[in-house]
Amino acid sequence: MLNDRSSILSLLETRRSGKPRELIGPGPTAEELERILSIAARTPDHGKLFPWRFVTVADDQRDELAILFRQALAKEDECAPPAKHQKADEFAHYAGQLIVLISAPTPDHKIPVWEQELSCGAAGMNLLLAAHALGYVAGWVTGWYAYSDHVREAFCGPGERIAGFIFIGHASRDLDERPRAPLDVVWKSWNPPGL
Ligand SMILES: Cc1cc2nc3c(=O)[nH]c(=O)nc-3n(C[C@H](O)[C@H](O)[C@H](O)COP(=O)(O)O)c2cc1C
Repeated sequence: MLNDRSSILSLLETRRSGKPRELIGPGPTAEELERILSIAARTPDHGKLFPWRFVTVADDQRDELAILFRQALAKEDECAPPAKHQKADEFAHYAGQLIVLISAPTPDHKIPVWEQELSCGAAGMNLLLAAHALGYVAGWVTGWYAYSDHVREAFCGPGERIAGFIFIGHASRDLDERPRAPLDVVWKSWNPPGL
């Protein structure tokens, strides 16, 4: 069973994202959203810099998001086929609550930007966990949207980047498991070099 919420450990052991394009609404209530973001903000962060931000996109702003994507494609990919425009339009209107996760590192700080970016990834993970713990299914995607200058300028300040678009809703069908890293591949005991 995926997303088994019967205990903390069972949820951690079975958590599974949904594909944003397959999610259905409704997304979290205002209170639940605040709770999810509070949990996401409770993330390890060397130096207490809070090097991430969350931007929520309201349901009634999805048409404007679609226009933004259309402008970005027109500017950055003049030869984009109609199917790419169509896909972007659909992306902008995926069901559920959309949260844009922003990496917002403090440059020229004694805490390296790399560590700040790691913290942003951890905030995204916490956000997913919080959404799933509340009984929702979430999905984190990037796509070209996250790397477009035009889209970035609409969400980010100087030095910031889009780390992902996280949609929170419900699964429209039974979720499938995906391959997970075999422990014998990703885990080994340390062999100290000959010192
Ligand atoms: C930074 C980041 C970007 C991602 N972008 C995409 C994407 O653009 N398209 C996609 O299909 N999956 C993308 N994924 C993968 C899915 O979000 C998801 O992590 C994957 O399907 C595994 O899901 P689970 O371990 O949460 O079940 C991305 C994951 C991360 C961490």
